[in-house]
Amino acid sequence: MRIQKIRKIAISTGGGDAPGLNAVIRAVVLASIQRGWECHGVRDGYNGLLMPGNYPAGGVIPLTRESVAGITHLGGTILGTTNRGNPMKFPMEQPDGSFVEVDRTDELVELFEKAGLDALVTIGGDGSLAIGYALARRGLRVVGVPKTIDNDLDKTFMTFGFDTAVSFATECLDRLHTTATSHRRIMVVEVMGRYAGWIGLHAGLAGNADVILIPEIPYDIEKVADVIRRRETMGRQYTVVVVAEGAKPNGGDVSVLGKAVGQAEKLGGIGDKLAHRLEALTGKEARAVVLGHLLRGGSPTSFDRLVALRFGAAAVRALDEGQSAVMVSLCPPTVRYEPLKEVVQRMKTVSLESDTIETARDLGICFGD
Ligand code: F6P
Repeated sequence: MRIQKIRKIAISTGGGDAPGLNAVIRAVVLASIQRGWECHGVRDGYNGLLMPGNYPAGGVIPLTRESVAGITHLGGTILGTTNRGNPMKFPMEQPDGSFVEVDRTDELVELFEKAGLDALVTIGGDGSLAIGYALARRGLRVVGVPKTIDNDLDKTFMTFGFDTAVSFATECLDRLHTTATSHRRIMVVEVMGRYAGWIGLHAGLAGNADVILIPEIPYDIEKVADVIRRRETMGRQYTVVVVAEGAKPNGGDVSVLGKAVGQAEKLGGIGDKLAHRLEALTGKEARAVVLGHLLRGGSPTSFDRLVALRFGAAAVRALDEGQSAVMVSLCPPTVRYEPLKEVVQRMKTVSLESDTIETARDLGICFGD
């Protein structure tokens, strides 16, 4: 098969932002320029192509050496992002103000062609990679780059953004220990982690939490209260509880704040609920802190910067080799490529047999089970 020569590629960032997005963009742009390709950025996921009217300065912008100078250390994405622009379920406003979801995937492929874009590097999580796979199946050359602070993507050792989120959450836990010990309180710290408890587990362990509640292990509130009471008898008058937003009680459901059109359910509130229940059960003062979007902001750690730069350059090498419908993956000590078809099959949740879980149990950390 003869591979059509690449002249012009596009980059898109979709879903929640994660530290390291700009480093990937920089690597893709510079590696493309090395090959004599032009590089363009689609604004806000695919909205720059699907809703060009919203972008008077252009929904697709040229990316040059200058546009990516000095951005490796910056959080967020210079292209903008959205979690409302899924072309397979695009929310279209109706004359009566209501919304219906329309499949605009074929139209999007045509828009790429019309713009003279030969290939796409899509940087995103499960949703964005599923869209990337749908575009690749329709003939667009697509390479995915795995992004999410949640680290819940399969077929990669780690996503970029995760290390930064864990480092920040750990620092917060260190700080919150001060209040917990001084006031002899229960501090409940809610972290992100919709389907997987990676952030809660890693930060909880590194940050000396006493209880870690994650989506993979439904918890029994009585067991958590027991830990607090037992600690009291040992002279430990404080307890630090880390809870992932997607954690749920035995036989219960996740805590949902609401749902907007074209978006996944907004999770949240579990930290507050737990604090109230634990206060009632133990008679001890409890406070909840939600780290939420703070975990997605800030400057990426050097680990995330390096992984992001390696991912970006590897994505361009994949396109140069004629690959498509693959995702760049971290497989220490190297990067490799995994079929998008397989990546989108399942999420990577915490294995209950992992040595990290065993380590936590050996240290006496309670998972509420
Ligand atoms: O980035 C993933 C994630 O952090 C999830 O853990 C969380 O549920 C979601 O993003 C929230 O995204 P937003 O508030 O931006 O819709």
